[in-house]
Formats: sequence, structure tokens, C-alpha cells
Amino acid sequence: MKIRENFLPLNRPSIGSAEIASVTECLKSQWITTGPLCKTFEERFQTLTGARHAVSVVSATAGMHLALMSLGIGQGDEVITPSMTFASTINMITLLGAKPIFVDIHYDTLNIDADSIEARITSRTKAIVPVHFGGAPADMIRIMEIADRHHLIVIEDAAHAVGTRYRGTHVGGFGGIAVFSFHPLKNITTGEGGMITHCNDFLEKKLRVLRFHGIERDAWKRYGKGGNPEYDIEEPGYKYNLTDIQAALGIAQLERLEEFNQRRSELMSLYREGLGDMEGLELPGDPPYPHTHSCHLFVVKIQAMERSQFMERLSEYNIGYGLHFPACHLLRYVKTRFGVTSLPETERAAGRILSLPLFPDMADDDVAYVCGAVREILKRAKKHG
Ligand SMILES: Cc1ncc(COP(=O)(O)O)c(C=O)c1O
Repeated sequence: MKIRENFLPLNRPSIGSAEIASVTECLKSQWITTGPLCKTFEERFQTLTGARHAVSVVSATAGMHLALMSLGIGQGDEVITPSMTFASTINMITLLGAKPIFVDIHYDTLNIDADSIEARITSRTKAIVPVHFGGAPADMIRIMEIADRHHLIVIEDAAHAVGTRYRGTHVGGFGGIAVFSFHPLKNITTGEGGMITHCNDFLEKKLRVLRFHGIERDAWKRYGKGGNPEYDIEEPGYKYNLTDIQAALGIAQLERLEEFNQRRSELMSLYREGLGDMEGLELPGDPPYPHTHSCHLFVVKIQAMERSQFMERLSEYNIGYGLHFPACHLLRYVKTRFGVTSLPETERAAGRILSLPLFPDMADDDVAYVCGAVREILKRAKKHG
């Protein structure tokens, strides 16, 4: 097989003329920080998810921080989460003085195993943070039912899940809190950015105040015509507000969400066709309930050889890859602070998973090239193994 000349990355944002026009218009409008475009972006997210409120923030990490904080989670509290998640969630829990309590996942989908949640609930548990891994929804009915029974809040990590639906409901629409990411690798991007969706009027005020220094009115309201620049602060807050420049990009990206996710889904089907019969490689499983997958990641599991070797070979073919994720319970600081947890399914998956290139502007031929390269790599491994 001939090696391609240009590098095929894991992911690349799709920015077209609509996005450039939208951002240019914002720049020309002379209002570039949090203002009317953030409001529009938030309203569009309410419509998408069906949640009563949407609060834009600088990242999903900031969104998770605010969500945990607004619930009063801190010293001595416990938060249940899979270890197969991005470290940002564990960092935020830890930095608030709380403790992450890890539960195992389903090996095939890498999603939280809802059946293992209840055994980890104690009197200190305050919240459950499921992840919609790679864009496949976690089993939300089961999780919400457990949370209701134990009076716990669910914060969905929906970083991968713009466009993900569970039994017809968009994630973030189940009555809890959800946090989305608009990092450039995600299904839509604002450069960096995030959104919190939720349905609680009390929380709404708290989230907005914590998002902006602890001040109740944002700059748009204070500096607009007839605005009141005075303020008082009841509780110190952060500087986590999104800008209108970012929202302009986000609004234009959101308009293209269906197009993006449709293309992602086609590419995923091509991968499944191209790799389905391959020995030494496992394809991602699909959740057993009705859902719409956002096709954010295509995570395979390498059986036939060491993952490090497989990654080296992919590089030789000029193909990028990602690792979602190193298991959090095995991170050095997590083991040191919280002790060792045993999570057999997470550990079984953790050493084998690898994300292959997937982004809307990929050509069918790019997928064929990756499949061809994977076939050659595995064939050679078998011959020499
Ligand atoms: C599952 C998951 N949660 C949270 C995050 C954090 O998102 P952000 O980079 O917007 O803070 C990421 C980002 O990669 C993620 O993959």
C-alpha cells in the first residue's frame, strides 16, 4: 500500500464561509464579549436539548466546576463517576475537596455500568456524573431512577454528545444538569467553550453569578444604555463567561450540526464495513436501547499487538490517533490521594483502546486508507507474532 503524503489527523474542525461571516459580523458589531450572541447561542441550546436553562461558559471543565460548586459539593462529599472519562472531571471534584468514587463501565460501549452505581452510594454521595462516551448515550432512565431514589443530582458529562439522543430525548433533557464541550475536537466548536443545561431556576441564578466574579449582572447589562454599573458581591465567583465572538462561531456551527453528525455517521458505517471482519481488532459496541449516536469518536480495541507498537505503525502510515482515555483511577495523583480501586472492565479496556481519525471533512477514501493500513499492520503482526 502506498503511504499517503499528507498527515491524516485524528480530528479537524470544519470551519466554512458561514462561520467566518458570523464571526466577522460580530467583530464589526463592536460588542465582542458576553452579550446578545451568547444569549442566542444559549437559547438555541435550550431548544436543542429541551432543558429550561442554558448557560454558556469557557469550557466544559469550567461548566463542570460551576455545576459541582453550585450544588454545594465540597469537603467530605463523594461524587460517583466512571474512571473512563477525561481527567478534568476528576480534577474539578478533587479541587473542590470532594472525592471521586469510581464505578466500572461496559467494556463494549465504554459507558458507565448503571448496575454498579448503587453499591457505591453512601451517606456522603452527592452526585452521579455519567459520561456519554464517544457520543453513545449512557442508560439515562436507569441512572435517573437510581438518583431519584437516593436524592442525588445527575450531572451528565455531555462533552461528546451534541446531537446524542436517548430514547428520543436529547441528552441534557432529563431534568438534571448536563455539560457540553466546544473544544476544537468536539462535534461543534467555539475554539474553546462549553454549555451547562439544566431545569432549576434557583441554580440558574447561582450558575450565572458564579460564572462572572459573583456579580449578578453581566457587562452587557451594566454597560448598555441606561445600565447600572454598580454592583455588590454576595459570594466570590470565577471568570468563566464565553465571548460573543465565540458564540458567533458556535451559532454558525450549531446550524450545521445535523450535516456534521450525518457525515460522521456515514464515516463510522464505512469504518464498520472496512474493519468488521478484521481479526485482532474489536469495534465499538452500540448501546442496547434506542438512541441517536453523535459519532464523536470511533474507538477500537487493539487485541493483536501492543497498542504502543500499533500507534508507531499508524504514524508510519501518516495517520493520527487519540487515546480516550487513560483510566483516571490509575493516574498517579488519584492513586496517591484516594487509594487503589479495582475496576476490571475499565482496566481490560484501558490498555487496548485507540481512537481513529473521524471528522466531517474526511473523505470516504481517507477511511478506506485507514482500513487498508490497519489491515496491513495487523496482518504483519500476525505473521511475526
Ligand atoms: C468526556 C470529556 N469531558 C470533559 C471534557 C472537557 O472539555 P473542555 O476541554 O471543554 O473543558 C472533555 C474534553 O476533552 C471530555 O472529553
